[in-house]
Amino acid sequence: MSRGVLVTGASRGIGRAIATMFAELGDQVAVHYSSRREAAEETLHGLPGEGHVLIGGDIADPAGAAAVVDTAVASLGTVHVLVNNAAVNLPSPVASTDYEEWQRVWRQTVDVNLLGTANVSFRVAKHMIERGIPGRIVNIGSRGAFRGEPDHPAYGATKAAVHALGQSLAAGLAPHGIAVASVAPGFVATERVADRVTDQVRAQSPFGRVAAPAEIAAAVRYLASPEAQWSSGAVLDVNGASYLH
Ligand SMILES: NC(=O)c1ccc[n+]([C@@H]2O[C@H](COP(=O)([O-])OP(=O)(O)OC[C@H]3O[C@@H](n4cnc5c(N)ncnc54)[C@H](OP(=O)(O)O)[C@@H]3O)[C@@H](O)[C@H]2O)c1
Repeated sequence: MSRGVLVTGASRGIGRAIATMFAELGDQVAVHYSSRREAAEETLHGLPGEGHVLIGGDIADPAGAAAVVDTAVASLGTVHVLVNNAAVNLPSPVASTDYEEWQRVWRQTVDVNLLGTANVSFRVAKHMIERGIPGRIVNIGSRGAFRGEPDHPAYGATKAAVHALGQSLAAGLAPHGIAVASVAPGFVATERVADRVTDQVRAQSPFGRVAAPAEIAAAVRYLASPEAQWSSGAVLDVNGASYLH
């Protein structure tokens, strides 16, 4: 059965790989973006199959988050799978950040990574409950939630919160047949982190490399599948044994 899939933050990077993976399975994908419309169009045009749509919107704005979901439902008919991939990762190391900048980074990071994820999840979950859809919600979290992010503390904190949100929603939505899980990637070779992938970073994994975006998409493929109901509430480490806890 072809599913309707909303992937937030699919303009490039991991979101693009996830959108491509679902399209290759024969699903209809809503490719969401915030500011990089051209890149998102590139994602859309690269998808195999038909019925995919492009949806712009700032999920940091509660009305924007609701509009993204409403538009996805209107265009796809049904959203069977939500992938919460959109996020920002802004630096604010304590020693070299002033208080004003600290405030700005925390506000924006919480608004996008946590509240945006919560609001999009809420609206999609309501849609799934109303339609009786045994849907799937998959969050893209981070290894940083466990290991700490000294240069990006707001990012690490919001990713830990996203894992916890996924666990709460997993328990709350199970009676409706909806499963919720998170993936916690280590370093992934995307445009955003390209300048941070050094030999030292590669050496964090005994495989001596960082992940390819498609390896994160493969984990999402499983967690979004019908057979993954029993993995609801899981936080799946996908980091090449770079951090065992
Ligand atoms: N790359 C890594 O090493 C790594 C490791 C662990 C976890 N992750 C997680 O994987 C996910 C994707 O990472 P990536 O490296 O592919 O990052 P990316 O290329 O920067 O993609 C982030 C996406 O989020 C969207 N976005 C940002 N702010 C938004 C807002 N206010 N409203 C709506 N969308 C917004 C961006 O849209 P626009 O481009 O249109 O602005 C973009 O599509 C993130 O959740 C990240 O935390 C990445």
